[in-house]
Amino acid sequence: MSLFSFLQLPIIQAPMAGGITTPEFVAAVCNAGALGSMGAGYMTPQQIKSDIQKIKALTSKPFQVNLFIPEITPADENITLMKNRILPLWAQVSKDSWTEESTPPPSFEEQAEALLEEKIPIFSFTFGCLSPHWVQRFQKQGCLVLGTATTPEEAKQLEQAGVDAIVCQGQEAGGHRGNFSPHDPLYSLMPLLLLTKQAVKTPLIAAGGIMNGHAVKAILLLGAIAAQMGTAFLTTTESGASSSYKEAILKKPQVPTKLTKAFTGKVARAIPNLLMHTLEEVPIPSYPTSHFLTSNLRQLASKKNRPDLLSLWAGQGYPLCQEISVRDLIHRISQELI
Ligand SMILES: Cc1cc2nc3c(=O)[nH]c(=O)nc-3n(C[C@H](O)[C@H](O)[C@H](O)COP(=O)(O)O)c2cc1C
Repeated sequence: MSLFSFLQLPIIQAPMAGGITTPEFVAAVCNAGALGSMGAGYMTPQQIKSDIQKIKALTSKPFQVNLFIPEITPADENITLMKNRILPLWAQVSKDSWTEESTPPPSFEEQAEALLEEKIPIFSFTFGCLSPHWVQRFQKQGCLVLGTATTPEEAKQLEQAGVDAIVCQGQEAGGHRGNFSPHDPLYSLMPLLLLTKQAVKTPLIAAGGIMNGHAVKAILLLGAIAAQMGTAFLTTTESGASSSYKEAILKKPQVPTKLTKAFTGKVARAIPNLLMHTLEEVPIPSYPTSHFLTSNLRQLASKKNRPDLLSLWAGQGYPLCQEISVRDLIHRISQELI
């Protein structure tokens, strides 16, 4: 089945892990005519199955579910320096003693089996290249498979693995970079699309800094089949982002975003704040060690309304974010597209 047949509009709400893409949010996007996506990278197989069932109950439209390809963490990480940075910040929000997030990371194989059992329409992945064996298992069920590339070379690897479409993620994008080759030239979206278009035949989806219908029009002109937009959807009424996160994005005056490894050990784009500055003063352990070290503090900061201690993931276009319903945002983008 072609990817085009799924899309009423060339608009995909990006998968965003960490509680943002709730079933209600994903279903609202699908029901408003765009493609809704669930970021399931941090979820257990049970949570994944339960949320998929909720999405299916709320919409009859197709949707996307996204997982992280696991990475190998180097042994002998020096975590003491980072812990020493976290402790005084933790004391600002809690009287209890600090503990590291201790839940073991979910196994990719178990997460993927849960998706296969639920027979989802579209599966996507980031942080790596899935083996052809897994790609084919999804495709045999009639599920479309999308991989994420940040360079034309990564796109070639994804094409060889047999994916149905490639999400080209420019360095403007909010959240983690999906790169999986050792050297990251930090391509911006426009050259990435132009070079990848020459390198592969697989359909391309554009991601990074796309904030309105004019930008969607631009990436269609450059040969992409759709835009995957994360930041623009973060501040919608239905988004599961916490109110302190939404307020920090919508607040003025606004500072430019920055690429950082501070919060998780993996390069990601976020709005600079106290937590980012403090953690960047010491060497940062790799992903996912840093993710687990900072996780409890970031979660508590969200509850205590401390945006200075959150990971404020956002793309370069975030000053254009609006407080708006999903339906109105998608309507506005589609009007701008005409
Ligand atoms: C808060 C946030 C969380 C994200 N989580 C994921 C994720 O779990 N999986 C994924 O493939 N991409 C993730 N992304 C990246 C998006 O897929 C997409 O590349 C990005 O949002 C596009 O750039 P934009 O934010 O400027 O629209 C995330 C982005 C944001 C802003």
